Amino acid sequence: MSETVKLILDGKEIVLPVITGSENEKAIDISTLRATTGYITIDPGFKNTGSTQSSITYLDGENGILRYRGYSIEELAENATFLEVAYLLLYGELPNIKELAYFDESITQHTLVHENMKRFFDAFPQGAHPMGMLSSMIASLSTFYPESQNSNRSVTDIEKTIHRLIAKLPTLAAKAYKHNKGLPTMYPRNDLSYCGNFLQMMFGLPTQDYKVNDVVERALNKLLILHADHEQNCSTATVRVVGSSQANLYSSISAGIAALWGPLHGGANQAVIEMLEQIRHDGGGLQKWIDKAKDKNDSFRLMGFGHRVYKNFDPRATILKVAADDVLEALGVSDPILDIAKELEQVALNDEYFVERGLYPNVDFYSGIIYRALGIPTDMFTVMFALGRLPGWIGQWKEMTEQSEPIGRPRQVYQGANARPFVSLTDRS
Ligand code: ACO
Repeated sequence: MSETVKLILDGKEIVLPVITGSENEKAIDISTLRATTGYITIDPGFKNTGSTQSSITYLDGENGILRYRGYSIEELAENATFLEVAYLLLYGELPNIKELAYFDESITQHTLVHENMKRFFDAFPQGAHPMGMLSSMIASLSTFYPESQNSNRSVTDIEKTIHRLIAKLPTLAAKAYKHNKGLPTMYPRNDLSYCGNFLQMMFGLPTQDYKVNDVVERALNKLLILHADHEQNCSTATVRVVGSSQANLYSSISAGIAALWGPLHGGANQAVIEMLEQIRHDGGGLQKWIDKAKDKNDSFRLMGFGHRVYKNFDPRATILKVAADDVLEALGVSDPILDIAKELEQVALNDEYFVERGLYPNVDFYSGIIYRALGIPTDMFTVMFALGRLPGWIGQWKEMTEQSEPIGRPRQVYQGANARPFVSLTDRS
């Protein structure tokens, strides 16, 4: 017999079904609660609310486990390419040689963007935040591919949209960077890997023969894999909710990019470097910053610390800490803020405030240090996160669509004024 729980409401016993996940996670199904009792549940920030049953990513925050479709993040980061991981997230299995070759070829064929999009970029001010440009550019792709707006679109149309997005995001991201630098655009090169092509569009110049550096390419591949999915986080939940209204995929991803931009989410990688720089310039030691982070009257937080789900350690941060050392050494880069970051981590991990609250470095704590060593400017860090997260967002959108999930529409408990008569302007005090 399936498991149930009993709830006593107004003296009446309500039996609710329990849903058990494949890793034995338990959830009480309250979907009929309002219809049968008039009650809803309330959970600001969805701290304890499951919005879907998903088979994409498993995350155990207590034990620091992260798996995509059953494969550990450690093994994927060590052995796979980003496109293999993208395929895994989208289609459920790692591709065989033939499947990967087809996928790779299809992505490569879609890397160009319409020439008219150049004019959009011309209109952005120099120094425009690249996340603002990226979110706008991705939404505007829907106007070039109007078939994406058709809610009865065919599977082939959906596949094309997915491949276009994965192919064009790097082109648009690199273009945003070049726009701010005032440098000429580099067109995509079909002979390079996904990461290699992105690097040449970022750092190549028409006057030079750009050679992709292996260390940089491998580091980028690893970073993108580590960011590729993270179950129902803020931006992914946004993509699913926007997509649930049957808005087209480009608009749903554009909304996800906007959600990722915030400093409490993907924007933290930029905020971490800015914080570490501030600490370095201040020169006054770390304790002052730890004390500020603990002070409830001070809005300062240790950026890159803490996570809604991880309360022990973030396995992505563990991988990135080692990678930061390796990459900086291989590139012969010495960055004083890596030492500050490690010291800060040690001080925080031995401080009761952080220990009690389960606050540990998250993925954003060390990723920025690597991006910096790769030559990527600070305001592009969150764009890099978006590049990595894209297949996760799309895989989650695809799953939501295939499961025919209902439109996302939370309820509320109203706490405002009760009904009252309208007062004309002259009678108001
Ligand atoms: N520095 C200092 N104190 C912190 C921090 C921090 N970075 N993070 C959480 N706390 C404290 C809170 O003040 C709170 O203390 P209290 O119980 O005394 O009130 C307690 O720890 C719990 O924190 P919440 O904000 O309630 O936890 P929540 O799950 O809502 O937030 C979040 C998680 C947003 C990640 C938070 O830890 C944070 O702001 N971290 C810094 C920003 C950051 O690094 N974001 C990236 C997250 S990873 C990602 O999105 C890719």
